[in-house]
Amino acid sequence: MAHIGIIVGSLRHASFTKKVAQTFAKLAPADLDPMLIPIGDLPLYNEDAEVPTPPASWTAFREAVAEVDGVWFFTPEYNRGLPAALKNALDVASRPYGKNVWAGKPALVVSVSPGAIGGFGANMQLRQSLTFLDMPVLQQPEAYIGGISKLLTEDGIVQGTQDYFALIIDKYADFYRQLKK
Ligand code: FNR
Repeated sequence: MAHIGIIVGSLRHASFTKKVAQTFAKLAPADLDPMLIPIGDLPLYNEDAEVPTPPASWTAFREAVAEVDGVWFFTPEYNRGLPAALKNALDVASRPYGKNVWAGKPALVVSVSPGAIGGFGANMQLRQSLTFLDMPVLQQPEAYIGGISKLLTEDGIVQGTQDYFALIIDKYADFYRQLKK
């Protein structure tokens, strides 16, 4: 069983991005076990705070990331880039120097927006950081989920879109198994 950390870049209670992440989690195959790793209580990264003891929330977050086998990132787009909360989470778990706990974990990037462009800018910017963090990232299919507010039903996300999510998960599962065998 592979443990997959879910990181959601929105802190909003009624977040569309969180609904997409929850739907992905429900569709995961039996050998992938997704679990949310919250990022909302991490103080902004400041290297001075590493000594003498880093904030407890940083330590807990680093441990949670270290324990998972792969990571699924779900992000909205803020001003054509990453939300600060998500970038901060990337930074926190990349330090202290030499202790980047993201490294080597197979990653999936999904961007979500009510707009037509589907968070393309955030998606690309996230991929740029994940390259530096030494995470292998699923390249295709790219997952830009646009027009999300129209894809929501009372039960979650419309069925046709869920089928597309299932295809992305299937590709990630193949990618993960290839890397880990
Ligand atoms: C946005 N939004 C937005 N949408 C987009 O497609 N491209 C963008 O560049 C931006 N920029 C932006 C900046 C800021 C500061 C906010 C608060 C919002 C709109 C955004 O997609 C929308 O608020 C989503 O609902 C945010 O995702 P969640 O919170 O629903 O997951």
